[in-house]
Amino acid sequence: MAMVSTYCPQFSGLRRSCPKLDNSQSQCFVQHISSQFRLSSSRKPCRAVVAMAGSGKFFVGGNWKCNGTKDSITKLVSDLNSAKLESDVDVVVAPPFVYLDLVKASLTDRIEVSAQNSWVGKGGAFTGEISVEQIKDLGCKWVILGHSERRHIIGEDDQFIGKKAAYALSEGLGVIACIGELLEEREAGKTFDVCFQQLKAFADAVPSWDNIVIAYEPVWAIGTGKVATPEQAQEVHVAVRDWLKKNVSEEVASKTRIIYGGSVNGGNCAELAKKEDIDGFLVGGASLKGPEFATIVNSVTAKKVAA
Ligand code: PGA
Repeated sequence: MAMVSTYCPQFSGLRRSCPKLDNSQSQCFVQHISSQFRLSSSRKPCRAVVAMAGSGKFFVGGNWKCNGTKDSITKLVSDLNSAKLESDVDVVVAPPFVYLDLVKASLTDRIEVSAQNSWVGKGGAFTGEISVEQIKDLGCKWVILGHSERRHIIGEDDQFIGKKAAYALSEGLGVIACIGELLEEREAGKTFDVCFQQLKAFADAVPSWDNIVIAYEPVWAIGTGKVATPEQAQEVHVAVRDWLKKNVSEEVASKTRIIYGGSVNGGNCAELAKKEDIDGFLVGGASLKGPEFATIVNSVTAKKVAA
């Protein structure tokens, strides 16, 4: 097996480097081997043709952020409506609040609609906020929470985000729960610590993981054109799945989609999609172009290996 030589170099940018196998590295290796066995032995039959460590369906979200006009959004919806999308992918787009209704009313049912944020509890006297009830009222199924732009620009903290997630879930919305480290945190070797702390805040608040997709989005890769390498992303995704296994349950670790976000585009999605713990993408800039977003959705085909 070529795993010793292919596994260790994956721990290049974070806490571990592997000049030789010491105890902790052999432990990583053992975990890796056991995860390989999990892949080949305990997947449902359909997993046999798809290289995924999790058992969830490929998931691609388009986060339109604070972009667009009625005209550009109408054009984007029309491009998405005519795009040919692989069937075995959950596809979601998150328009700005003010266009949610327009998009929901004109977009094909093949694609679900998400909000980009939601209020922490029931709606009421909260000027400028949008409630989960209102998001549901428009027929939206998802909300993005914990996005780095809300953490680092607006100042939302882990506990507040956890509460928002719990409330949205309690009302039946799915949550795209974002986590990810800043460049200086990565450089200080704190990537796992930061991601685990953000995950723990979600885990402490939510009663169930049934309706949560985790988006790992390294902040240094968002909107910068500096995509994480497939190895860098895979390394964190494996760690996140292991964290879920140890701190929530093996079932949740297997079922929860862990998607990658940060400068994903039509050119780099296939290589990323091939990584077995990358269960899809959260796409910003490239989701504003219908054909390119369709290419990213269809990168699920890169995941499929010869049966
Ligand atoms: P990006 O954004 O694809 O433009 O880097 C991703 C995101 O913020 O979700």
